[in-house]
Amino acid sequence: MPGVGRVPLRRQTPCFISHYSLLVLSVPATTITFQLSDGQPAQTHVAAPGESVLDVALNNGIQLQHNCGGVCGCSTCHIYINSGGDDLPEISDKEEDFIDRAENPRINSRLACQCVVEANMQLVVTIPPQHFLGH
Ligand code: FES
Repeated sequence: MPGVGRVPLRRQTPCFISHYSLLVLSVPATTITFQLSDGQPAQTHVAAPGESVLDVALNNGIQLQHNCGGVCGCSTCHIYINSGGDDLPEISDKEEDFIDRAENPRINSRLACQCVVEANMQLVVTIPPQHFLGH
């Protein structure tokens, strides 16, 4: 018998679109606002869960040194977290040791490669001047 057990296509399509829309809307975006020390205007970029602040900076053409390649082996990716820092992974002893070697470390200092974001975070960070030779 034709049509038995089948829902007409016109009735299925709106349901698919409706469910898809709910999925898209239920993934909260993470944003990182970069305040730059060279006088350029601040930039805000969307970050995917699992990306580091260093990844997002480099992917968007923001200069941020990273001499060790992002493995917590230097202090050149030093940044200041102005807000949203409570949502970041806890600072490790190794990261703290390298921050102590950075230029002008402060209480809100972090290493950008160690700041891995999750969904629904809003970070505001300052990139220090990038003219120095880090270690
Ligand atoms: S790039 Fe070296 S510690 Fe982040």
